[in-house]
Amino acid sequence: MDTSTNDLTDQENKFSLSKISTQGAVDSTRAHLYFTIDAMSRLPFITFEGSEGCGKSTQVQRLAARLKRMGIPHLVAREPGGTPIGETIRELLQFAPQNVSMTPETELLLFEASRSQLVRETIRPALERGLCVIADRFFDSTTVYQGTARKLDPQFIERLNAFAVDDCVPDITFVLDVDAATAESRMQKPRRPDRMEQQSAEFHERVRRGYRDLAAREPNRMVLIDGSRHADVIENEIWQIILSRFPALSKTSNIEHQTSKI
Ligand code: TMP
Repeated sequence: MDTSTNDLTDQENKFSLSKISTQGAVDSTRAHLYFTIDAMSRLPFITFEGSEGCGKSTQVQRLAARLKRMGIPHLVAREPGGTPIGETIRELLQFAPQNVSMTPETELLLFEASRSQLVRETIRPALERGLCVIADRFFDSTTVYQGTARKLDPQFIERLNAFAVDDCVPDITFVLDVDAATAESRMQKPRRPDRMEQQSAEFHERVRRGYRDLAAREPNRMVLIDGSRHADVIENEIWQIILSRFPALSKTSNIEHQTSKI
């Protein structure tokens, strides 16, 4: 990844914003073209991954709070969900009583449907408008949960992921790695356990292994983080890595703040 291309002057940033406001996200052909051009100078798209209880949502919130303090324009999204359509899919996937009969194939397609909506409605327009985007899960979750853990065809999943995200690929992905006992102790209680959390210990072990293997296969994009340490230590490590890869972030002025309400 060429991090030097993320060096944004304020003027370039404003130029980027005005282009988007005249173009909108309606015409997907033109949106694609503009996104590719802006990829040369936009703020990063950062994703967080890991098994349940790994602490990724805490780190998402901490990174967003830091960007806010620094006046860096950003947007936070989550998967599944992040759009009205996506949140409806999330409820169906996680808590709806009828999901007990959901097949792995249906589950896969619902995650991809939520993602393709999130990319086109939220993530891509935000990047084009000059915002840094932080996502709590993205396509690596499907690779690991539906591929490695549910054992659906990995090549087909790769194709579906590519179809859902088009050219909207994260610049950097932090994988928070914790063992099952640590994860279990961190799960907030009382809460509604979702469908995935009710899977066997062996399923969750496959998830952890899947993330570790994926991070080893994609060392340029993915960074494996020891999630068993104190949240402050993890937060600082993540921030140092972000700064070293995207030095322009610390120079970016306060253009606009936006945090997904969903
Ligand atoms: P969480 O993000 O609140 O942890 O919950 C999302 C759950 O959905 C979690 O168990 C992981 C699972 N999931 C998949 O199985 N595949 C996916 O593609 C995504 C985004 C999430």
